[in-house]
Amino acid sequence: MGPGPINADPRVLRAMSAQLVGQYDPAMTAYMNETMALYRQVFKTANEQTLLIDGTSRAGIEAAIVSLVAPGDRVLVPIFGRFGHLLREIAERAGAEVHVIEREWGTVFTEAEIATALETVKPKLLAVVHGDTSTTVAQPLEGLGELCATHGVLLYTDVTASLAGNPFDTDALGLDAVTAGLQKCLGGPSGSAPATFSPRAVEVIKSRKSIEAGIAGSADEIHATRIRSNYLDLAMIFDYWGEKRLNHHTEATTMLYGARECARILVEEGLDAAIERHRLHGAAMLAGVQGLGLEVFGDPAVKMNNVVAVRIPEGVTGDAVRGEMLEDFGIEIGTSFGPLHGKVWRIGTMGYNARKDAVLTTLASLEQVLRRHGAPVTAGGGVGAAYDLYADQGAGAL
Ligand SMILES: Cc1ncc(COP(=O)(O)O)c(C=O)c1O
Repeated sequence: MGPGPINADPRVLRAMSAQLVGQYDPAMTAYMNETMALYRQVFKTANEQTLLIDGTSRAGIEAAIVSLVAPGDRVLVPIFGRFGHLLREIAERAGAEVHVIEREWGTVFTEAEIATALETVKPKLLAVVHGDTSTTVAQPLEGLGELCATHGVLLYTDVTASLAGNPFDTDALGLDAVTAGLQKCLGGPSGSAPATFSPRAVEVIKSRKSIEAGIAGSADEIHATRIRSNYLDLAMIFDYWGEKRLNHHTEATTMLYGARECARILVEEGLDAAIERHRLHGAAMLAGVQGLGLEVFGDPAVKMNNVVAVRIPEGVTGDAVRGEMLEDFGIEIGTSFGPLHGKVWRIGTMGYNARKDAVLTTLASLEQVLRRHGAPVTAGGGVGAAYDLYADQGAGAL
């Protein structure tokens, strides 16, 4: 019950135990096409270039940034948590001239603050995290697409923590590049990064296309702004997932089985129903920790559905509580980074763990462990508040 990775859906684990097939086996290429179509539904996009980047979520981030940005290009990164720092780091390593604006952790930017920075910096790319897992809040993206279109700026967002658990619509938001991971609301393991790219982003990436010797055709040129990574070169990756089936890398077959199953489960449930499930169980967990008398960190108006940051009560050692939750109840809750380290726990309700029984047993065990640590918790207040919320919202069957 941490901020991810979480327990994978058993269907995903079963899918990942299937036998391998060759990378150009008709079954495999059909799975690739099917996976692209499924993720178009998950991302809510018509983008042709919707595919998997092999590697954990940061491989997706790095592929997007290194493929869109050439050395010397200006990038603007609004930072409101750990993962904004990661975007900055990756853009700097790609050789970009990176400008940042920063907000206190637990808060987000107003559209006007981002607009002012865009006008001053005039970047090629605005790279912003959607839900920053480190602080549990999500930057509202509404309005940024129009702003970027007006200024001729590409808009990228990292939805690793938020996708499928919070309202999100790639095309309606006017996004050019979006990357994710499986290990949170998608209910899978880490190791594959679903991603989608708008026609505008694809044009920029293709203008840098430089196919490696050995697989290049006689007409293929090497461009001056060649993408600085071979493995994460989206121009070649697009050709691997497209009709050319360029032999760029060997698709991580087992991860593809897993990623495909994650999307199949979500599409069967319905994206809106999955988001509502995350909203409901997130609200129950929030009501439960507050019912225990604990305080919550971060601006509640922009809190993600799927994770809550709980202030560690005075006199309680956060890691000792986490240790006993794990040892005695088999339940993991999360620690925190940077300025929040030792100050808050992060409790997730995401993917396969966005379930009533998981919420109630976590609250029951948290109460018992906190009591042993001398924290003044309200007896029965956690499970009681969550139970009431489930009853009020008529969701007994979920
Ligand atoms: C918002 C966000 N971005 C990026 C990452 C990095 O993901 P990974 O560890 O899968 O590379 C994480 C991981 O928790 C995350 O929460």
